[in-house]
Amino acid sequence: MSFAWLKYYMPRSLYARAVMILLLPVVVLQLVVTVLFLTRHFEDVTQQMATTVARELRLVLDVVESAPDLGSINSYVIEELSQLAIVVEPVAEGDVPQAHLRDFWDFSGRVIVAMLPAQVQSIAAIDLTENRRVHVYADTRFGPVKIGFDRRRISASNPHQLFVNMIFFGGLVTVIAILYLRNQLRPIKRLARAAEAFGRGRHEPYSPAGALEVRAAGHAFLDMRNRIERQIEQRTLMLSGVSHDLRTPLTRMRLSLSMLEEDERAALEQDVDDMQGMLDAFLNFVKGAGEGEPEPIEPHAFVASVVEDARRAGRDVALLPPDGEGTGTVQLNPLAMRRALDNLISNAVRYGAMAEVSVLMTEKALRIRVEDDGPGIPEDRRAEATRPFTRLDAARNQDRGGGVGLGLAIATDIARAHGGVLRLSSSERLGGLRADIVIAR
Ligand SMILES: Nc1ncnc2c1ncn2[C@@H]1O[C@H](COP(=O)(O)OP(=O)(O)OP(=O)(O)O)[C@@H](O)[C@H]1O
Ligand SMILES: [Mg+2]
Repeated sequence: MSFAWLKYYMPRSLYARAVMILLLPVVVLQLVVTVLFLTRHFEDVTQQMATTVARELRLVLDVVESAPDLGSINSYVIEELSQLAIVVEPVAEGDVPQAHLRDFWDFSGRVIVAMLPAQVQSIAAIDLTENRRVHVYADTRFGPVKIGFDRRRISASNPHQLFVNMIFFGGLVTVIAILYLRNQLRPIKRLARAAEAFGRGRHEPYSPAGALEVRAAGHAFLDMRNRIERQIEQRTLMLSGVSHDLRTPLTRMRLSLSMLEEDERAALEQDVDDMQGMLDAFLNFVKGAGEGEPEPIEPHAFVASVVEDARRAGRDVALLPPDGEGTGTVQLNPLAMRRALDNLISNAVRYGAMAEVSVLMTEKALRIRVEDDGPGIPEDRRAEATRPFTRLDAARNQDRGGGVGLGLAIATDIARAHGGVLRLSSSERLGGLRADIVIAR
């Protein structure tokens, strides 16, 4: 038997789950106590009291039987049994109810109705509907009589008091517990927020607090964050240092080249240009998503401007009409996102002949798609293609210009920094690669 379906009914947040774990035993306990108490205690108490009353009723009825005549029943009973405080009066045959009368919520009444007639044979009917008074109709040798006495003699008074108290104090204690719980959960939420922000490339101030285990996790997170930041910093310094230092000799080479004869020059100049391009790619990779700040941006206009720039640079790029019912702005880092799209578009026109760009926006997500008519990337090599410095089979890349294998890695990095993903698949429209940047809004 599997309890997987239970997941759908479980609250999702830690706070809601904790409250549920807290409330469930309290509610179940109260229900169990209520039911047990009602059935056991109140019925037992009522039974005991009913037995006593039955004994009194038998006594009263005996006295009634020995009264001299109908008219003097009441005064005779009062005279004989005034201590009992029970009132007896004769009634007409038609005034006797056909059945026992009680309110449906009157639980102890059910016990009374079951017990009294069993112990006193001559009882014809019991009427419990009058507030605080019990009327018993019994047959005597003078005909039917109505016997009245106080309800409190036969069932415990104010039985609901207990439940009112229980629910009130149960609620009070639960509220206090929830308040306390909230303070305990706050540090976990803060840690989750800081970790999530760091995953998106933002450094949020965070200091460990709360229970011992939460504090330990917080310190571990801080250590991890520091180490990763140090590594990124070192990588950045190294790559940008190398790239920067190589620029100067490259510029010198270019100068020396211009002194050479025309026919020797062309090939060498191409090499120098390629090297320059590679250095630019390194620098771009190092910058990654670190440059610029996220701001609210209207995606359709933004993508249109990126496509327009690519077209002006001589690339064959088309922008498809916008799709989806979403409107408004999305938090984007324009510098980084432009770099990611540039990389995807340059891949598309390098490995294919033309590119198509489209934007789909819904209430919850933004998807920017770049498709081309090239050979695409086989499914089992897509993960490999997004790794830095990886270029797929050399044959495919022949005469396609000198890439260093960073384009897709940069785009992946930037998509992640926006809390999204870069998804590669094959284009249905054009047959080549389809690259989607999907970002939750
Ligand atoms: N649109 C595409 N169609 C077919 N293959 C592609 C496409 N985009 C990328 N690839 C393959 O994935 C590999 C990695 O792409 P990536 O953009 O990371 O590097 P690159 O284009 O080779 O170099 P760079 O982008 O750094 O100039 C490429 O070498 C290429 O083989
Ligand atoms: Mg590329």
